[in-house]
Amino acid sequence: MDEELFIHSLGVEEAAYNLAALYGIDSQKASLAGLLHDYAKGLPAKQLCRIASEYNLADDISRQEPALLHAPVGAWLLKHELGIDDQEVLEAIRVHTTGFPGMSPLSKIVYLADCLEPGRNYPGVKELRAIARRDLNQALLIAVDRTIKHIIDRGKIIHPVSILFRNSLILSKKNNQEIYNHEVWNKKTKSSS
Ligand SMILES: [Fe+2]
Ligand SMILES: [Fe+2]
Repeated sequence: MDEELFIHSLGVEEAAYNLAALYGIDSQKASLAGLLHDYAKGLPAKQLCRIASEYNLADDISRQEPALLHAPVGAWLLKHELGIDDQEVLEAIRVHTTGFPGMSPLSKIVYLADCLEPGRNYPGVKELRAIARRDLNQALLIAVDRTIKHIIDRGKIIHPVSILFRNSLILSKKNNQEIYNHEVWNKKTKSSS
């Protein structure tokens, strides 16, 4: 891990810890997931692809876009190299690039911490930090919108699960409830594959 990524990881750890403490979520798990979320980011694309296909860690879309692979590959390596077996922590790391409809509160915090850690410096980040302190889902919607726009600007592939994640945030805001239940979603995706 190079210095820039290490500093970013410390920033995500700090931001995840603070958000978790604010929302009454396990801040030790949040800081661990924040610190390790980019564990595989420094690996070459070839290696990410090899590990992903060897252990069946990614769908066809993620395989087309190695930038997406560092999340599931990182979670897998953390389990098998470092022996981390906390499922909540591993899930937060696995979904931190795309988001996921019905994400756990811990996963939401890690996703957001990645976008607003103290080292992030883009127009609107201060406002995003302020919103994150009072409305987690609203902040996530802003963050995922920004990410999707950024991907479009760069002509890259958008993972459909990011669109579903965005829709779930809008619908949950509208109906004041989570539209997608994680377990139901998992069953649906398994039965359709
Ligand atoms: Fe990442
Ligand atoms: Fe990151």
